[in-house]
Amino acid sequence: MIIGVLKEDPPGERRVAVTPDTVPQLQKLGYEVVVESGAGAGAGFPDDQYEAAGAAIGDATAADVVLGVNPPAPGQLDALRPGATLIGLLNPRLKPELVEDLAKRPITALSLDAVPRISRAQAFDVLSSMAGIAGYRAVIEAAHEFGRFFTGQVTAAGKVPPAKVLVAGAGVAGLAAIGAAGSLGAIVRATDPRPEVADQVRSLGGDYLAVAEPEPDDTPDTGYAKEMSDDYNVRAAALYADQCREVDIIVTTALIPGKPAPRLITAEMVATMRPGSVIVDMAAANGGNVEGTVPGERVVTDNGVIILGYTDLAGRLPAQASQLYGTNLLNLMKLMTPQRDGQLVLDFDDVVQRSMTVVREGELTWPPPPVSVSAAPAKTQPAREVEADAPESKPDPLLRRLGVAVAAAATFGLIALSPAALQVHLTVFALAIVIGYYVIGNVHHALHTPLMSVTNAISGIIVVGALLQIGTGDAAITVLSLAAILLASINVFGGFAVTRRMLAMFVRS
Ligand SMILES: NC(=O)c1ccc[n+]([C@@H]2O[C@H](COP(=O)([O-])OP(=O)(O)OC[C@H]3O[C@@H](n4cnc5c(N)ncnc54)[C@H](O)[C@@H]3O)[C@@H](O)[C@H]2O)c1
Repeated sequence: MIIGVLKEDPPGERRVAVTPDTVPQLQKLGYEVVVESGAGAGAGFPDDQYEAAGAAIGDATAADVVLGVNPPAPGQLDALRPGATLIGLLNPRLKPELVEDLAKRPITALSLDAVPRISRAQAFDVLSSMAGIAGYRAVIEAAHEFGRFFTGQVTAAGKVPPAKVLVAGAGVAGLAAIGAAGSLGAIVRATDPRPEVADQVRSLGGDYLAVAEPEPDDTPDTGYAKEMSDDYNVRAAALYADQCREVDIIVTTALIPGKPAPRLITAEMVATMRPGSVIVDMAAANGGNVEGTVPGERVVTDNGVIILGYTDLAGRLPAQASQLYGTNLLNLMKLMTPQRDGQLVLDFDDVVQRSMTVVREGELTWPPPPVSVSAAPAKTQPAREVEADAPESKPDPLLRRLGVAVAAAATFGLIALSPAALQVHLTVFALAIVIGYYVIGNVHHALHTPLMSVTNAISGIIVVGALLQIGTGDAAITVLSLAAILLASINVFGGFAVTRRMLAMFVRS
């Protein structure tokens, strides 16, 4: 099959769906690649780089699989051949007229912004890739407009306080903004209705501002926030009103998919900000989180606050955005080309491919069935319910203590009855079990894998001990020694393999 790479139609769009780096990898999957002339020029990839990578320059709309970033222009859509597959950011949730148009054509259309937020789909999650870039760029735009340093400084001419930045919404874009603002030296705070992001905010050096206790929520988990209650919004408004009087920069990223952006900051709050303060409203394209935002524009309020409503933040880093977009697309093509034979296969049993499909061979398949994900921590059940539903899941503490006492008495009896030479070893063994139980039990689950690597040392001691015993001539001791060597060796080699894989994650390619 031939893959066609479109030249983007919207004016000012500088991203491209395939970079020269990904062309050879698409060819390895069995595809030929045709790129429209000038498609990569805005991102710094001229035609000759594509040709050097093995692509042909020509008409992409005549291809079997047509890749783009934005929805194609009407002329490009009309030129698609029957049976073609179109893949791009089609935004079917907010563009029903485009969905209707696509459904009238004998084509298949997949929308990359409909990839569900599940771990397995992260490799194709273009929205997260773009949001990460946009969050970073939002801070750079704010720094460009802001007339002062971000970092605090002590100079001969006086002390400069650090800038204070508030990030509203700590999803992908928000976390990227927190990281960028923190690394420029600002004091960063962030708020989000999902309490589980608090640790992520802190791990990036930000302070998490909680609005209220999480509300009971029975709706299926989609990895995104739900619309908040009036009560929450009233308390959040008080928090924003306070913060607006204090901070210099605000980056708003609040989003509930398929809904207009929640209004977080009112004109009255903006009026309380200091002149020269900057707001970047990343939700401008969806209606804006800030009153007074104009999509795509820079607005200066009467009190001198600059509100940026840029909707092309990711596209303002076109080479970076194209590279990540192209890699996400390549990963998708790998998934959809299981035989590596240049034949695209759409598997409707795969939840990722099903969720992305807007039209299949001319048949409307949008909206897809909802996908429940486990990205967020499991919802905690009220304590009473847990007790009523699963009494056996909570062992009786009295029984547990009794069990421990019986085991301890049995161990002491065994030690007392054993030959004198063995008593010291058994005592050390019993104490090691107790200490090991408490030490390992107090290590956070996330650290169990590195802990396993460390236990290699203990396994090494076991191997040495077993090697010393293996030649005693007693058959039982030999068998036990062999078993000990085998089991400890599995731990040693397994530990090294796991450590190697973990270290590889930090190696720069
Ligand atoms: N301007 C641009 O160029 C550009 C580029 C990429 C993304 N975006 C926009 O950035 C926004 C964020 O994208 P994302 O991928 O990070 O989304 P995301 O779903 O990862 O994050 C959105 C966050 O907003 C939070 N949120 C929801 N309701 C809220 C409320 N009432 N108050 C505070 N927080 C609330 C959610 O809990 C979530 O953490 C979106 O609006 C997206 O369209 C803009």
